[in-house]
Amino acid sequence: MAIERIVDTSPHDEDADEQVIEVTLRPQTFDDYVGQDRLKKNLKLAIDAAKKRNEPIDHVLLYGPPGLGKTTMATVIANEMGANIRITAGPAIERAGDLASILTNLQDGDVLFIDEIHRLGRAVEEVLYSAMEDYKLDIVIGKGPAARSVRLDLPKFTVIGATTRTGSLAAPLRDRFGLIHRLEFYTPEEIEKIISRAATILESKIDSAAAKDLSTRARLTPRIANRLLKRVRDYADVNGDGFIDPITTKKALALLEIDELGLDPADLQLLYSMIENYGDNPVGLATLAALTGDETSTIEDFYEPYLLQIGFIERTPRGRRVTQKARRHLGENKTA
Ligand SMILES: Nc1ncnc2c1ncn2[C@@H]1O[C@H](COP(=O)(O)OP(=O)(O)OP(=O)(O)O)[C@@H](O)[C@H]1O
Ligand SMILES: [Mg+2]
Repeated sequence: MAIERIVDTSPHDEDADEQVIEVTLRPQTFDDYVGQDRLKKNLKLAIDAAKKRNEPIDHVLLYGPPGLGKTTMATVIANEMGANIRITAGPAIERAGDLASILTNLQDGDVLFIDEIHRLGRAVEEVLYSAMEDYKLDIVIGKGPAARSVRLDLPKFTVIGATTRTGSLAAPLRDRFGLIHRLEFYTPEEIEKIISRAATILESKIDSAAAKDLSTRARLTPRIANRLLKRVRDYADVNGDGFIDPITTKKALALLEIDELGLDPADLQLLYSMIENYGDNPVGLATLAALTGDETSTIEDFYEPYLLQIGFIERTPRGRRVTQKARRHLGENKTA
């Protein structure tokens, strides 16, 4: 098991206090939700239309790398619809019966959020198809020759599915979503706004130059932006009067071993070993995983999206390759 990285995009098992903070930082409305403008525009339109017709909105599938705001957006949609949200996840729905009991407990207009929807089992998926399409639940009662199938009416509800990978989603399931949207990485300006907003909520003082410095080190990801802010705030509280200025930020991030682009030692190690062992040749995913001792899914979900986004690695048909841009960055860093 790898050590917990501060720039890891997955949620950390933080103590109860931190989870309360997480809840208060989470935007509740479209106005609070920074960035993703195209997605917001499309969703607003769908919500306005649905409200006018007095219907729930079409099923929504959100995909994209971890920490970009999929779960947050699901709760915003429910809030904007004035709907109740029921939250579950693919691996939590083990049998078709589990899903049946969730579905029969829904009310008209409810939102059912299914996180990691690509991890639903086959049998469960099949029940979900007709539930999503016709608001019907097919269940089998009894066993053996006496078994018979019944069709139950379900309330009109909305499924919001979230996944880090659409590739692993069965096509028939994907087809049942009327709105399919990818969450994009944020711009540094948007991340800066997210940091300032979070600082205000946390009643923490940060000057704008420091917020700007942090904004390029958060891997263009809100979850990391919030996490870095909290760490820098700790540093400022312990080593000063709590005010976060660029010097405090720089020192805190040096301590956390995060460079100006948000790369940590694990990223640098990955890039170095790709260059050392393979030079300009592409490396396959399985080989990369062996190199770092991680699962292939860790490489795909956590390392790769950001490194691709900033153009440090590129995908070729034969594997991944380190770019010149990355080499320049590593060269500058080595002498530092
Ligand atoms: N657009 C945004 N504006 C402000 N804060 C945001 C935004 N998006 C996300 N956040 C913050 O980042 C945190 C992580 O977002 P969220 O949990 O929604 O990500 P996710 O895409 O569901 O990640 P995962 O794939 O790991 O489930 C949230 O707690 C929230 O505080
Ligand atoms: Mg989530």
